[in-house]
Amino acid sequence: MTTAGLFDLTGKTAFVTGAGSGLGFAMAECFAENGAKVVLAELNRTNLDAALAKLADRGFTCDGRIVDAAHSKQIESAMDCTRKEFGALDIVVANAGISAGPGPMTDIGTIENVAPERWREVLDINLSGVFSTIQCAARHMKAQRSGRIIVTASTAGFRGDPMVGYAYAATKAAVVNLVRQAAMDLARFDVHINAIAPGPFRTSIGGGRMRQSETESAFAETLPLGRIGNPDEIKGAALLLASKASSFMTGAIIPVDGGALSW
Ligand SMILES: NC(=O)c1ccc[n+]([C@@H]2O[C@H](COP(=O)([O-])OP(=O)(O)OC[C@H]3O[C@@H](n4cnc5c(N)ncnc54)[C@H](O)[C@@H]3O)[C@@H](O)[C@H]2O)c1
Repeated sequence: MTTAGLFDLTGKTAFVTGAGSGLGFAMAECFAENGAKVVLAELNRTNLDAALAKLADRGFTCDGRIVDAAHSKQIESAMDCTRKEFGALDIVVANAGISAGPGPMTDIGTIENVAPERWREVLDINLSGVFSTIQCAARHMKAQRSGRIIVTASTAGFRGDPMVGYAYAATKAAVVNLVRQAAMDLARFDVHINAIAPGPFRTSIGGGRMRQSETESAFAETLPLGRIGNPDEIKGAALLLASKASSFMTGAIIPVDGGALSW
């Protein structure tokens, strides 16, 4: 076996939720850089337009769709359109996710302060939205007997995390096992599903708090590498999981976390 072309995505169609910003945008850009046709599924019109413009500036013509990943019908219709337009759905990334606010070591993040509406909103996007995205992708991919599904989990899904809110920790733990459960179901159809568990990255999540220097320093102190991640640093794992390079991988959760889970 030669390794030439192992990471090549030429001719593949990729669909990424929450692709207008941060990690979703970086993954969409990486797939375009490696030859895929990319559909950016994004809730926020401003983010979507800015993302498509950035990609166009680099010579990549990508499709954009306004989609609320928490609404299964919207996900279904956007994926159906993608399949019709491009003839296949090879790579789907269930990435859209929101913060649940501050963690339990702050005055406002303690358990009695978790508002039911916020709890529900985070579950709708971070868990039910991920489930619907996997379910729709699986329907198309089982029929075509091939496909790669990638879920953006989090290191917060593996242990108590003082920096994140209750609903975030709960949903990220849940998606880790969702990936393992779906891996059993989909493997015989040659559909692979894996997750990336990012540590802290400099994105716009949580109203931009990851870009504030005091938050960044607080997160950096929790990491062996001593700094938070740049969104581009998600690209290597995303390309691995989207390409032939991961042909013997399914049900895996890859930390990209500056070493967070190692101590
Ligand atoms: N940044 C981090 O430190 C970090 C760490 C671990 C995991 N993650 C995960 O990475 C994923 C992406 O987050 P990010 O940090 O890039 O944040 P971000 O806010 O920069 O980007 C998220 C994008 O998703 C979009 N979005 C939000 N809700 C949506 C919905 N219902 N439907 C469609 N699009 C929606 C937003 O408009 C935004 O463009 C999330 O699942 C998040 O939990 C982030």
